[in-house]
Amino acid sequence: MSVLETQPPRFSAEEVARIAAEVFGLEGVATDLGSERDQTFLIDDGEAGAVLKISNLGEDPAVLDLEQAAIAQILRVDPELPVARPLAERATYKNHQVRLFERLHGRAGGPDLDDAALRRYGETHARLNLALRSFFDPAAGRELLWNLEHTPKLRPLLDAIDDSEQRRLVANVLDRFDSEVVPRWPKLRAQVVHGDLTLGNVLLDDRGRITAIVDFGDCGYTAQVADFAVALASLIRGRDEADLFRCARIAVDGYASRLPLEPEELAVLGDLVAARLAMIVAISAWRVRRYPENAEYIQLEDDDSWALLRFFDRIGADTVAHELGAPRAAVATGELARRRADTLGAMLTPLTYSEPVHVERGEGVWLYDTDGRRLLDAYNNVPVVGHCHPRVTEAVVRQTRKLNTHARYLYEPLIELAERLLASMPDDAGLDTVMLVNSGSEANDIAWRIATAATGNRGAIVTEHAYHGVTEAIADLSPEEWPAGYAPQHVVRIPPPGSGAETAEEFEGVAALFLDGGLTSDGIWTPSGAEITGLVQSARDAGGLYVADEVQAGFGRTGRHLWSFARYGVAPDIVTLGKPMGNGYPVAALITRRAIVERFPFAGGVFSTFGGNPVAAVAALAVLDVIEDERIVERAASVGEGLLAALSKLKSEEIVDVRGRGLLVGVELARAELAARIVDRMRELGILIGRTGPRDNVLKIRPPLVFGDEHTAILVDGLRQALEGETE
Ligand SMILES: Cc1ncc(COP(=O)(O)O)c(C=O)c1O
Repeated sequence: MSVLETQPPRFSAEEVARIAAEVFGLEGVATDLGSERDQTFLIDDGEAGAVLKISNLGEDPAVLDLEQAAIAQILRVDPELPVARPLAERATYKNHQVRLFERLHGRAGGPDLDDAALRRYGETHARLNLALRSFFDPAAGRELLWNLEHTPKLRPLLDAIDDSEQRRLVANVLDRFDSEVVPRWPKLRAQVVHGDLTLGNVLLDDRGRITAIVDFGDCGYTAQVADFAVALASLIRGRDEADLFRCARIAVDGYASRLPLEPEELAVLGDLVAARLAMIVAISAWRVRRYPENAEYIQLEDDDSWALLRFFDRIGADTVAHELGAPRAAVATGELARRRADTLGAMLTPLTYSEPVHVERGEGVWLYDTDGRRLLDAYNNVPVVGHCHPRVTEAVVRQTRKLNTHARYLYEPLIELAERLLASMPDDAGLDTVMLVNSGSEANDIAWRIATAATGNRGAIVTEHAYHGVTEAIADLSPEEWPAGYAPQHVVRIPPPGSGAETAEEFEGVAALFLDGGLTSDGIWTPSGAEITGLVQSARDAGGLYVADEVQAGFGRTGRHLWSFARYGVAPDIVTLGKPMGNGYPVAALITRRAIVERFPFAGGVFSTFGGNPVAAVAALAVLDVIEDERIVERAASVGEGLLAALSKLKSEEIVDVRGRGLLVGVELARAELAARIVDRMRELGILIGRTGPRDNVLKIRPPLVFGDEHTAILVDGLRQALEGETE
């Protein structure tokens, strides 16, 4: 027979006072504190007092030893936790196990707990779980109905609920548990837990801080989140419907501050809270039939639980789950696109592809849409080491949990990053100064300000269809963005080096030559070192600096070198970095020489609030680490070679040229409309590529650098199909 079915002990207060004296030598007055299946008494001896517990006859002594051992472990690992200590060895009295515990002081808590107390409650609960993390005791595997894992076993108890509407409420929770929780249960973190950390088992001080944690009677092995759900169900009891989820979330925040919840745990938290409430009322109905004399204690929580179950039923289980952290079902693509158009408009941040890509998650070279379809990403250069690389995401998450602030304070990751970046620059370039910013545009904007200040000139040289960023100054240096007829006087446009067109110009009054090493927006070209060296020399002859814009082509994109300028054999005066630098986390940089910056006249120096913040810095460091560990640069070179070769073998009259370096490859087609159709057709085939060039007729292939030969095969095959579709 289980402890829930065995008759609870029924000693009178006088008898208990005698037991305390006889067994433990403690003389005092006994007062019944109430208990579900045991008897618990306060023994007041006029001094510190104690709590005496008489166990149910059905209790296995091994379980009582488990409780003691768990308490001992908690006090060892986190001695600050106010867990009531055993004061003596367990003893036996008339076949009953009797134990004596330390008496702790405090008040009982309820819905009056304020936000700070709720947060601390969650935090204390997490500490309790953490303290028991490594604890093991075979007795913890005992089967106790109160363990939420056994929720499905409540079904036979439904008959004990007289009211049919109430029965329906509980049955619905059980149905939902079967469909939502049971399949996930094996994936939930599990350990030995207190099992009943409710307001009934803690005492609080005036500020709502926990001063006592008692009653390990439900201690056992279960899902960690189930243990927390038990606490949450207690914390929301008796609260205003309009406020109870807010309160619960604050307690969750407290818990997560010590022990972050995993997605699977958040997915089931709402259903576990509902299950706990259903469990309370179902077990209560069943036990009251057996022990009507203990009805008052057994039914203590029934009214509140029914009220919450009715409320949950009214708003629906999905809403409850979502309120407590479960993700919402994806919004339909059409509806989302409409809402996007309503809020963002058509001009700002336009969507690509005729059929928008509605993505939910990414991994490596793959993106997954909301229908679960995977798309081969051969377009995005930002996730340079692959979408959601664990090294980067974990670095970001860990640092986010620890500290995020701005670069006016001293912290190590920023400095380490700056040192690593400088070390990656050519030895003889004299590049010795770094500034961390947030975007390629910002890096280029500051580069431009520095260049004009340092040279005293106002002129810029850019390639014909260059793109360097969004700020007003840099939009002027980005002819790709210019409206028809727009031609700022200070900007000279030159044909992209490598395209075969001659640059006849003599320059004068130049502040800077901005050059994207991959000439991406110009249609992707592969100039020789001599061409670039010559161009840079002309710019310098006219007084200007050479700004190597590595925002596109940096971080190994073009293979062989980390920086695309390196193959050209001429060291830049300023290098700007961005896009792939944080694999998606916004971080960018500018690298130059001290002597150049010192001519920058702005009072108080330049500062960018988020630039190089600790999280950005660790993201960028992680990217650099992965590039080294996974030999990304070499990989980009060899996979890129294979890609170029395979594309060059494609037979189509529409292909004018195939060119590129590393994993930045362009396929020039005869007509822009055709390129547009091919890009859309590829998207339908589940392969993402883009278009570039002044006529938008160059297919832009620029995947994450973890792209492999197997992906090349998929891409080239898709392109073949798309081109064949055109000629049919
Ligand atoms: C070569 C180049 N420079 C600068 C930028 C601007 O970077 P961001 O969009 O991060 O401001 C881009 C963006 O595409 C770019 O391709």
